[in-house]
Amino acid sequence: MALTVEPKALGHGIEFVREFDESAGEFEVDSGVLASALTNILENALEACIEDNSNKAHKIIFGVKQEEDDIIFDVSDNGIGMDKETRDKMFTLFYSSKGSKGTGLGLFISNKIIEQHEGSVQVDSNPGEGSRFIVRMPKILPAEVKTAQIN
Ligand SMILES: Nc1ncnc2c1ncn2[C@@H]1O[C@H](COP(=O)(O)OP(=O)(O)O)[C@@H](O)[C@H]1O
Ligand SMILES: [Mg+2]
Repeated sequence: MALTVEPKALGHGIEFVREFDESAGEFEVDSGVLASALTNILENALEACIEDNSNKAHKIIFGVKQEEDDIIFDVSDNGIGMDKETRDKMFTLFYSSKGSKGTGLGLFISNKIIEQHEGSVQVDSNPGEGSRFIVRMPKILPAEVKTAQIN
């Protein structure tokens, strides 16, 4: 997941920091769908840095750590950030502030995937400061989700 976003960030002169807790190495989730959920969040972080015209040095931090029964993915950027209206609408299908460059699908899909895995997402964001997305996923999938994926 970071594999596709990291080189794009570096190409734009944006620092990309991975903070992976070694103990988070082994856990059971559907890695394919989870990767697309996280990629959407990471791509938004990248776009928020690219869109920011301030002269600050841009940085994306991608952290993964373990906490009791959960895996926590933590994506922060110091890009444009969001005002209250955007924060309220960001998970809405087709909501995008990016005009023709956006689809408004990314966070809608991420949120659905996270909900399906009985995870949660918490967002902290302020205009001009940046954004932080904290995704919490249970390490063991609920049985019904596993069944749905096999069928
Ligand atoms: N890291 C971020 N920084 C600033 N705004 C963000 C960030 N992530 C999401 N957003 C806001 O949420 C909206 C919806 O995101 P998304 O569903 O991925 O659609 P899209 O990226 O196609 O616009 C974005 O258009 C943007 O306004
Ligand atoms: Mg997006």
